[in-house]
Order: sequence, then structure tokens, then C-alpha cells
Amino acid sequence: MLILSLVSALAVSLPFAAAKPAYKIPAIMSKLVQEDDTCIMPEGFRIQKFRIWSPQAGSNRSVNINFEYTDDSTSINTCCHLNQSSASVGPPGLTPRYACNNDTVQFIWQNGTMTVVEKACPQTSSHFEAAGSVTLNLTCTNTLFNSTAGAGSSCVSTKDPIEAIFTSLEPTPQ
Ligand SMILES: *[C@@H]1O[C@H](CO)[C@@H](O)[C@H](O)[C@H]1NC(C)=O
Ligand SMILES: *[C@@H]1O[C@H](CO)[C@@H](O)[C@H](O)[C@H]1NC(C)=O
Ligand SMILES: *[C@@H]1O[C@H](CO)[C@@H](O)[C@H](O)[C@H]1NC(C)=O
Ligand SMILES: *[C@@H]1O[C@H](CO)[C@@H](O)[C@H](O)[C@H]1NC(C)=O
Ligand SMILES: *[C@@H]1O[C@H](CO)[C@@H](O)[C@H](O)[C@H]1NC(C)=O
Ligand SMILES: *[C@@H]1O[C@H](CO)[C@@H](O)[C@H](O)[C@H]1NC(C)=O
Repeated sequence: MLILSLVSALAVSLPFAAAKPAYKIPAIMSKLVQEDDTCIMPEGFRIQKFRIWSPQAGSNRSVNINFEYTDDSTSINTCCHLNQSSASVGPPGLTPRYACNNDTVQFIWQNGTMTVVEKACPQTSSHFEAAGSVTLNLTCTNTLFNSTAGAGSSCVSTKDPIEAIFTSLEPTPQ
């Protein structure tokens, strides 16, 4: 009995020993991974076609963000948007976070840094989320007051795709 569970623990933990994410899997999460074949830990992500429009100072328009998100480890591919009609899905008092079309993925945009958060094994009782951040380098052009967007600045990432690993695994903030 003891030997059997040791063997299966080894078999399960081996792929992760070789994997890239820079976080430690807590015991409670390792147990879920062992018990549920469909529980795959998020390793890294790719952001493509990142675009941001920021209004000129004094404008009452909202920032607009659009990008495509892919996590090959968990086979998630979704689009993410931030605009005037977006509402934070995080707890009040914390930095606003926005859900992507697939709400397993959320993002936080703060002063040039994109933090993405992916729920770990959302189909289980896990309340953990993996997070990783990238600081984007942007190339911008001004948009005029009489354009559809309005007066502001329209930017794309100088690098596309942008790839990064998850660096933390924490309980979802309540
Ligand atoms: C923004 O300002 C314009 C012009 O001052 C006004 O017409 C519009 O209602 C305002 N929009 C919001 C969301 O406050
Ligand atoms: C999100 O993507 C995953 C992986 O493709 C899928 O299993 C899940 O059902 C999706 N969730 C929603 C809410 O679309
Ligand atoms: C605005 O953002 C929401 C999600 O916050 C998204 O569902 C909607 O499609 C976006 N609208 C546009 C025009 O991109
Ligand atoms: C945002 O980034 C700019 C440039 O890196 C910096 O000067 C500014 O202090 C930052 N603001 C905040 C609120 O972090
Ligand atoms: C942004 O530029 C800095 C300095 O050139 C570089 O180290 C960093 O990797 C770049 N980030 C991205 C996401 O392109
Ligand atoms: C917008 O304004 C600029 C500068 O005033 C002008 O050159 C341009 O023709 C205008 N464009 C439209 C679509 O009205």
C-alpha cells in the first residue's frame, strides 16, 4: 500500500520536476493532481496581438486593451478585452482584475505591466491560481480627437508573441 502510493506519487511528480513554472506546488494541490488525471498545472502562457489604446490626459474615455491568450500546458486559448463596459471580477479594495472570454483566465494591467492569472484545475475543489507578469515594450502612435477612438495613444507590443512562465501559485483572493 505504502509502496504503491509512493510509486504513483513519483510518477505524478516527475513531469513537474522537469517543468518550467517557477512556483512550488503546495501539498494540498499535489494531492489534487494525483487524484485527478485532468488536473494539469499551468506552466506558462503566450500573449499575442496585444493592443492598448490610452486616452489623452483629461479625457473621460476608458483604456482599451485587447489580446489573445494561450496556455499550451492547459490547452486554454481565449481572447481578453478591457474597455468602458468591463467590470472588475476581483474582490473590492484590490487592484481591479478582468476576466477573459474564458473566465479561467483573468488579467491585471498596471502601468505597463500585464499580470495574468489562471485558475489551477478549476474543475476540482482547488482554490489556487497561477500568476505571472510581463512588462511590455510598446510602440505607439497618436490618435486624433476626431478619430473613432478619440484623442489618445494607440500602442502595440514591440514583441509578438510574448511568452512567460507562471511565477506564483496562491489561493484566489476572497
Ligand atoms: C464624456 O465627456 C463627453 C463630453 O464632455 C460627454 O458627452 C460624455 O457623456 C462623457 N462620458 C462619460 C462616460 O462620462
Ligand atoms: C476554458 O478553457 C478550458 C480549456 O480549453 C475549457 O476546458 C473550459 O471549459 C473553458 N471554460 C469556459 C468557461 O469557457
Ligand atoms: C468590452 O469588454 C468586454 C469584457 O470586459 C467584452 O465582453 C466586450 O466584447 C468588449 N467590447 C469590445 C467592443 O471589444
Ligand atoms: C509607471 O511607470 C513609469 C515609467 O516606468 C514611472 O515613471 C511611474 O512612476 C510608474 N507609476 C506607477 C504608479 O507605478
Ligand atoms: C522590453 O525591453 C527590455 C529592455 O530592452 C527587455 O529586457 C525586455 O525583455 C523587453 N520585454 C518584452 C516583453 O519585450
Ligand atoms: C481630423 O482633424 C485633423 C486635424 O484637425 C484633420 O486634418 C483631419 O482631416 C480630420 N479627420 C477627419 C476624419 O475629420
